[in-house]
Amino acid sequence: MARRRDARVAPSQYRRSERVEKPTQEFKVDGSGFDRKLIAIFVFLFVVIPSVSVLVYKINTARPTNRSEVLVPRRGLIKTDINYQEILSENSKLTENASHRHYNYPVLAYITPWNSRGYEMAKRFTSKFTHLSPVWYDLKSSQGSSLLLEGRHNADKQWLSEIKMNGDALVLPRVVLEASPMELLRKKKQRDKAIELMVTECKEMQYDGIVLESWSRWAAYGILNDPDKRNMALNFVKQLGHALHSVNSTRNREQKLQLIYVIGPPRSERLQQHDFGPEDLQSLDDAVDGFSLMTYDFSNPHNPGPNAPTQWIHFTLQSLLGPPGKTAWSLARKIFLGINFYGNDFTLSGGSGGGPIIGRDYISLLEKHKPAFQWEKNSGEHFFLYSDDNHINHAVFYPTSMSIHLRLEEARSWGTGISIWEIGQGLDNFFDLL
Ligand SMILES: *[C@@H]1O[C@H](CO)[C@@H](O)[C@H](O)[C@H]1NC(C)=O
Ligand SMILES: *[C@@H]1O[C@H](CO)[C@@H](O)[C@H](O)[C@H]1NC(C)=O
Ligand SMILES: *[C@@H]1O[C@H](CO)[C@@H](O)[C@H](O)[C@H]1NC(C)=O
Repeated sequence: MARRRDARVAPSQYRRSERVEKPTQEFKVDGSGFDRKLIAIFVFLFVVIPSVSVLVYKINTARPTNRSEVLVPRRGLIKTDINYQEILSENSKLTENASHRHYNYPVLAYITPWNSRGYEMAKRFTSKFTHLSPVWYDLKSSQGSSLLLEGRHNADKQWLSEIKMNGDALVLPRVVLEASPMELLRKKKQRDKAIELMVTECKEMQYDGIVLESWSRWAAYGILNDPDKRNMALNFVKQLGHALHSVNSTRNREQKLQLIYVIGPPRSERLQQHDFGPEDLQSLDDAVDGFSLMTYDFSNPHNPGPNAPTQWIHFTLQSLLGPPGKTAWSLARKIFLGINFYGNDFTLSGGSGGGPIIGRDYISLLEKHKPAFQWEKNSGEHFFLYSDDNHINHAVFYPTSMSIHLRLEEARSWGTGISIWEIGQGLDNFFDLL
């Protein structure tokens, strides 16, 4: 389910998850359905999109001209002019070649235990991924101040062994640091214990390392606004990285356990104290093997629009890496640029609402409403409008081959890898693009 994604991943300081979780407003059907529909479409086309575009343009400082328009179509659907029939027929086709990769950069794929399709996709397309991150663990405080690494019950041993037989993809489960941040960061004993729990779990379960998510929680607790506490937080990540690097991987004795750290995009033009910035990237460079950058959820039900405008992605990379060039290139190799395989179905009239949808929801919308697609050039995303049985108007933004292609190319042009949230939520043909 796409909804859970927000509960688990979206940075809490932005309160985006709560907003997305909010139930849709009450439907108010009145006699003026037709007018309302027109108004909603008007609002959407002439107010929402331009305002998104304005914002995007505002944050866009130095985007190279028409670079993204240079396309090398591999498949029929990498184009702006598409219709729902093409998408449905593409979706029912067999995949091109489940092991052939079009890019040689690292590809990290998230898998969630509440959507079993992700496990299947990981098995089918193992060679397309370099890193697999099942979302399994939470590090919690239990009674008093003792720590607990919860989630082993999620670990599917059968699946793990099949993945290892299928290819070389590393398995690094995600751990969310739920434990009270101040306790953990202040007390050496707690820090050591937390790290020991994670390293031991890797050894016992023969993982290749972990993906750690803690930044958003630290931001929510105000840790990152205080220079001393911020330092303690960064030092904790370093200590964990060094501890993992001191352990040989069981699969390949030449390799050490790895640490991938989850980071969010800045939410404003100027970096704030709680944002993960370029200095943080450099400071953690030795201790961290990769940074999973969550470039999605740009829009929400209160501000419907594209999920991850290309210009915003470009701005985010630029604010982390500096202008494209040698320095950027050397830092970029550790970034896993986030790409969403889910979409959003926003309601436009009858109050703001709606929320994330996954592949099968999208396919049933196409079958039912036979919508006309529009290409939003400024964000590099397709969308369509439809009116439901209660005459509520909706705008649906869900990835297409074209939108994914642009983002894969963006990653290539910077020399980053990509990370996908999450592989069970996309359509089968998305994997042909990787
Ligand atoms: C932009 O597109 C035009 C026409 O397609 C082309 O002549 C020009 O070289 C392109 N510019 C860049 C920077 O790619
Ligand atoms: C699929 O891709 C792999 C790796 O690129 C290649 O070795 C193989 O021959 C391809 N198979 C087919 C049927 O094209
Ligand atoms: C780990 O690997 C290194 C070589 O990379 C080797 O020298 C060392 O003995 C290994 N340690 C263990 C505990 O296997």
